[in-house]
Amino acid sequence: MDIIIRENYEKMSKCAAEIIAGYVKAKPDCVLGLATGSTPIGAYRELIKMHREGLDFSQVKTFNLDEYLGVGIDLEKTYDMDQSYARFMYEELFKHINIKKENIYIPDGKTKDPKKYCAWYEQEIKKAGGIDLQLLGLGGDGHWGFNEPGSSLGSRTRVQALTEQTLDDNYEAFYKKANIARSEMPHFAITMGVGTILEARNILMIVNGARKADVVAKCLEGPVTSQITATAIQLHSGGITVVLDQAAASKLKNAGHYMFVEKMKRQYGL
Ligand code: GLP
Repeated sequence: MDIIIRENYEKMSKCAAEIIAGYVKAKPDCVLGLATGSTPIGAYRELIKMHREGLDFSQVKTFNLDEYLGVGIDLEKTYDMDQSYARFMYEELFKHINIKKENIYIPDGKTKDPKKYCAWYEQEIKKAGGIDLQLLGLGGDGHWGFNEPGSSLGSRTRVQALTEQTLDDNYEAFYKKANIARSEMPHFAITMGVGTILEARNILMIVNGARKADVVAKCLEGPVTSQITATAIQLHSGGITVVLDQAAASKLKNAGHYMFVEKMKRQYGL
């Protein structure tokens, strides 16, 4: 596991965007797993800048981690609720780059048959050849996607009820700004499972801010547990990169060692 610590959010975002761009350049038709939340916005802005300088997304396929249940998907129409993840992705990334609409997959929160839909989503990931790089943030309770505490570490794409903490976090970060009452927020979501995420060939997790320092330490240095689903990162068998800002890394016991390893790897081109 490569743990990279950068001074601040801007540098963390730049580092993450460079890693993502590296995949796109090396394999122009790569499959990216994408995430929402406030954390990846900076990385998406960097990717947009890189696209303006020539980074080509025309053959890239993307699969998003999750979507609120009951929320719309059509990327070019207006939405029932402005806070849909489909809208977030469109506004923060897709409308600024040359990705093809047919190459974008975001769980359809409006599906009439969630069970069948989730099985289809899993099949589409397989049909695409699997995910080359999965970008992940970290929920306040240590979740990936919307895999709340108690989600099996082998779980697949499915409907998940959201915890009060997640509702509070996401209300503060998104819904409040849009003047939507907390009681109006969707309490369920479709999410890729932890097992689905672990099948991605490579994982890139980004986390910033002192607010998440405790959960970052639990996730990277604590025991693996379904109570903190992102601890499953320790079970992944492919390439794992975690990019943190200093504040998010501040409770890591072995931060000094991770920094030393990064420096050595850079020095010896490993
Ligand atoms: C939501 C998303 C997660 C995301 C998390 C953290 O719960 N489903 O994928 O990682 O929010 O969001 P933020 O980056 O805003 O802290």
